[in-house]
Amino acid sequence: MFKRISTSAAHGDPDLLVGLDLGTTKVSVVVAERESRTGEAQIIGIGHAPSSGIRKGLIVNLDQAVRSVQSAICDAENMVGLELKEVTVAFSGSEVKSIRSKGMVSLGRSPRPVMQLDVERVIEAAQTEVSVPQNQSILHAIPVEYFLDGHGGIDDPSGMTGMRLEIDLQSVIVPTAVLQNVLNCVERAGLEVNGLVIKPLASALGMLSKEESMAGAVAVDVGGGTTGVAVFSDGRPKHLAVIPVGGDHITNDVASVLKMPLSKAEEIKKEVSLFEGAESAEDVLEFDVRGRSYSCRVVDVVEVIRCRLEELYSVLIRREISDLSPSMMSAGVVMCGGVAKTSDIEVLVSELLDMPARVSLPLDHDRMPPSRNGVEFVSAAGIIRYMIERERNPFRFMEPHLDSIRRQGHGRGIMEEPRPRVNPRVSSGGGLGDLWEKIRRYVDELF
Ligand SMILES: Nc1ncnc2c1ncn2[C@@H]1O[C@H](COP(=O)(O)OP(=O)(O)O)[C@@H](O)[C@H]1O
Ligand SMILES: [Mg+2]
Repeated sequence: MFKRISTSAAHGDPDLLVGLDLGTTKVSVVVAERESRTGEAQIIGIGHAPSSGIRKGLIVNLDQAVRSVQSAICDAENMVGLELKEVTVAFSGSEVKSIRSKGMVSLGRSPRPVMQLDVERVIEAAQTEVSVPQNQSILHAIPVEYFLDGHGGIDDPSGMTGMRLEIDLQSVIVPTAVLQNVLNCVERAGLEVNGLVIKPLASALGMLSKEESMAGAVAVDVGGGTTGVAVFSDGRPKHLAVIPVGGDHITNDVASVLKMPLSKAEEIKKEVSLFEGAESAEDVLEFDVRGRSYSCRVVDVVEVIRCRLEELYSVLIRREISDLSPSMMSAGVVMCGGVAKTSDIEVLVSELLDMPARVSLPLDHDRMPPSRNGVEFVSAAGIIRYMIERERNPFRFMEPHLDSIRRQGHGRGIMEEPRPRVNPRVSSGGGLGDLWEKIRRYVDELF
């Protein structure tokens, strides 16, 4: 059964919230401090490092991925001057399914208040309706709406009176091996995992305003290898998906169609605007790479980028939202992730999907370090919002017991002892570093 999570870390600092975003392009670490008076979290640092060993959101080389996590953690630790021990991890991966099911429990023959146990029972009843394929696990169980004696729209039924409690539950299902690889990677990097979140959910929480999530909006996060889609309405996630297409496909298209090296394609695609003015569109770019000369027309670069974005939005994203009524998306599309930096993307997307579109910074951007508060850090910042929400309302985004995930399947490699991590503030060359190490060992022995 699902656990309700207390974020106050057993081993880490209860006032510190740490999110780790495993991206295809970069691994980011966001550190927030809880203000004891308000309970709100204040982001105090963000570290990041280029990803290696992660493709289309999936770990494909464990050792490389472990090293990327360690570098990102070191970067964040250096920024905040604290050792980070426990993290909630956001990850992607292409085989994510979001399934809705209904559950119902009787409260008795005469009306009585709903107790916590009833909420647990109704969630369990809805879960038994979900057929989880072999080798897959439910990552999130998200109550979408409760009904009491047939009346819907109830956000939290606790304490309300009735005779029959029903639920509309959304379950997010992912391959168990994907979860195990994420746990294995992060634990091998020397960290404890206190929660997992699917990336599109973190991104949506990181950028949708309250009004948008109530009115209905499609949150789209286009990273390097994947695109996350989350539809929110009435303040709740109604659908979540990951599409295995991202900005790296655009780079590959530009490189292969216009016959240039990948590094140059990556550079050029970031410079052009999708609605290039008539004069500059005819411009020809000429450049040399390793002694070879290349040239291409700006208009052709734009055409290649547009083709891929059209496929992504008009076919793949549209497919994800086609079953939902337009009234559930009246606030339109809100975009983040590196690809959202494409100049004029909101104009194109608005045309393609025939709804309003905007590019969003993290909701917390003015409290984030400058140069680390852009669209590509929305998902990382969203992990902190996820952690706070999860703590305030334990039934909101339930996660499985991580031990049960570790135990499933063959488990080989997963249960390995975490490797000791080098403390980035401890230099190996004697001096204060050695002294600090001795003190640590002494304290470890004491306890
Ligand atoms: N200015 C830009 N214009 C277009 N694409 C960009 C720009 N900056 C970054 N990108 C693309 O965004 C993708 C990385 O997105 P990001 O959200 O940072 O990564 P991750 O995959 O780790 O979540 C890459 O494909 C990169 O080429
Ligand atoms: Mg991203």
